[in-house]
Amino acid sequence: MKWQSNLLSHLQWSDTIINQTGKIKLAQQIAAKVKDGDIIGAGSGSTVYLALFAIAEKVKKENLNVRIIPSSLEITMTCSNLGMPVTSLLEDKPDWAFDGADEVDPNRSLIKGRGGALFKEKLLIRSSLKNYILVDESKLVEKLGSKFPVPIEVFPGALVYVESALRDLGITDIILRAAKGKDGPIITENGNFLLDARFDHIPSDTEQKIKSITGVIESGLFIDYDVEVMVAE
Ligand code: A5P
Repeated sequence: MKWQSNLLSHLQWSDTIINQTGKIKLAQQIAAKVKDGDIIGAGSGSTVYLALFAIAEKVKKENLNVRIIPSSLEITMTCSNLGMPVTSLLEDKPDWAFDGADEVDPNRSLIKGRGGALFKEKLLIRSSLKNYILVDESKLVEKLGSKFPVPIEVFPGALVYVESALRDLGITDIILRAAKGKDGPIITENGNFLLDARFDHIPSDTEQKIKSITGVIESGLFIDYDVEVMVAE
């Protein structure tokens, strides 16, 4: 028996989708890669959201057997709305995964996590055999950190310790991300806080240095990951 839910069936992207035309082109390109039997990891953000519509259309049209491993509640609900079967990393390993990014440098290193789903996004990318990063040209930067701060997910009880450990690393421009639609800080899907840290320079060991602080769950730095970047003009 199926639920009747207006909340799910009327689900829409919560904000304006920037560069929607480019993102729709990327959605078509990624949908063209879908094959029967694929287990696909889906990151988060508006690019992934749009891509799922294109994938669902292809799956329906060609009667494919495909399952999605979502990285966030937002994407899980979108799958449910589109009738796309989901699975998890406990059951399946992704054949491939796709995601967006906030910044991509010339070495294909990334900043992600504007949407707050960076921990599961990184887990998916680490678990997947092949990864596609879908971006429009506005995400391409010469130097990582030039437009976006680096999100850092922190266990709430460790907030002040992590702040002081980040300062010891020389990172001083740090804010606790505030929620919209709720008082106080944003709470991630894992029940944690998010810091946004600005950097003048991001050496290649920064991801590991941040991760080694007790209380840090994960950062939005993806340095030297094996990803294929697809850019919409
Ligand atoms: C989600 O947590 C982020 O990592 C997104 O992948 C990133 O913010 C890109 O978002 P858009 O696809 O909405 O531009």
